[in-house]
Formats: sequence, C-alpha cells, structure tokens
Amino acid sequence: MNKEFRKAIIAGNWKMNKTPAEAVELINAIKAELEGKDTSGCGIIACVPYVDIDAAVKAAAGSPIEIGAENCHWEKSGAYTGEISADMLVACGVNYVIIGHSERRQYFGETDVTVNKRVLAALEAGLKVILCVGELLEEREQGITAEIVSMQTKIALMGVTAEQMKNIIIAYEPVWAIGTGKTATADQADEVCGIIRNVVAGLYCDCVAKATTIQYGGSMNAKNCEELLGKENVDGGLIGGASLKAPDFATIINAAC
Ligand code: PGA
Repeated sequence: MNKEFRKAIIAGNWKMNKTPAEAVELINAIKAELEGKDTSGCGIIACVPYVDIDAAVKAAAGSPIEIGAENCHWEKSGAYTGEISADMLVACGVNYVIIGHSERRQYFGETDVTVNKRVLAALEAGLKVILCVGELLEEREQGITAEIVSMQTKIALMGVTAEQMKNIIIAYEPVWAIGTGKTATADQADEVCGIIRNVVAGLYCDCVAKATTIQYGGSMNAKNCEELLGKENVDGGLIGGASLKAPDFATIINAAC
C-alpha cells in the first residue's frame, strides 16, 4: 500500500451467502469487532446480495462500513427479467458495485464488452465501481498474464474519463486463486497490480495511476493479509470467504488501516 497517494480499501464480497437476517447479524458482528479501533486509514465495504441491501444499509448506518452490490445491468430500466439497474442500487443506499467478477465472466457469460457497459452505467448513476480483472490458470501458465489483465483493463475502461477514475477501484483477482485457498504470492500480486497501474498510466497519466486503488483478491485471509498488503502496489483486498467471518474480516481491515 502506498497511502501517500491513494486510499487502502478492504471490500467483502459475500457472493450468494446470507439471508437479510443473517446479513444484519454479520454487519453487527463486524461493527463489534471494529468497536474502539481507528479505521480512518482505510475504506471498508461489504458487497452483499441484492435482497440483503436494505437490511445491510440500515445495519451499517453510522458505522464506517459502506454497502456495495455484486453486479448491475447497463440499462436504466426495461424488459430485462432478473436484472437490477444502477439507479435502483443508488435508490437503495448502495455506494459501490462490483463489476466483472470472474464468477460472472465464468458462469454468466460476462464479456469484456458487457463489463465495459456495466462500468459506464454504474459511473453514470453515481456508483463507485470495483472492477475485477484476472487471468485463468492456463493463461498464467502460457505466460500471458500481463496481456490478459491489460486487455481486460483497457476494454473495461473504454469511455471512462480521467475524472471518473476517482470512482474506479480495480481488483486484481487471479481466477486460480479465488475460493481455492491458493493465494498468489505477495510478489505475484504486487507485480500484476503494478502492471495494471502502468496500464492506467498509459490510458490516462501517472497522476491518475498513482491515485488509483488497486486491490488484490483471491484467498486473502487473516493470515496472509499483512504480507500482501505490505506490497507497494497492493492497495487493499477484495475478500470472499474470509469476509463472512467477522473476526477474520476485522483482522484484514486492521492490517490495512
Ligand atoms: P475468496 O474470493 O477470497 O473466497 O478467494 C475472492 C473473490 O471472489 O472476490
């Protein structure tokens, strides 16, 4: 992390877990863990299932925890059965949205082009975006990690202005490390986050690149967070499994703050 230039952000990605009642319990448990701790040094986000948003926003009110969603559609409204628009999220008190998570790409046909459309729609609605990029295991083994994450980043940011980059967080999530217990080494995470930062510098300028929060995600946990977050280019984490356990999530937050 380099807090001189950018904000460290720890975001939980709850995925398809927790009912509204369980969401309140988990938010309250995280709040209790953070009680009396100075968390002003980092941003804290919980990205929750759509049906949990209302309960989570109310439970988190007055605490440092902000609520995010896990996806949104690019149209404002219309005949898109099962979808949720960015405006709807804003109306529910959501501040952040994850876009382009590898599980969306892998299981729900998300492409770089639809990721770009969703990013633009979310920004337009006033949401902050956690944009996920990352290579598959085969791509890493082929030695094309840099090309893959560069391409994903460039396409996702098409039409995003330098001014709007203030509302973009990028999460580097190697697909092989998500939910597998296999973490990228701190050096691997730092290297690819650095590659992404160079891509942002090329698209905009060094000043935008320096100010952009680039997280690592993929089996980050209470044990390995310190080493990962100690790296210059790793400005926080997008955390799945460990974000569902309040003490572990709080340990990661404390390591970043
Ligand atoms: P994980 O998930 O921490 O369970 O690996 C990370 C993510 O999918 O964002």
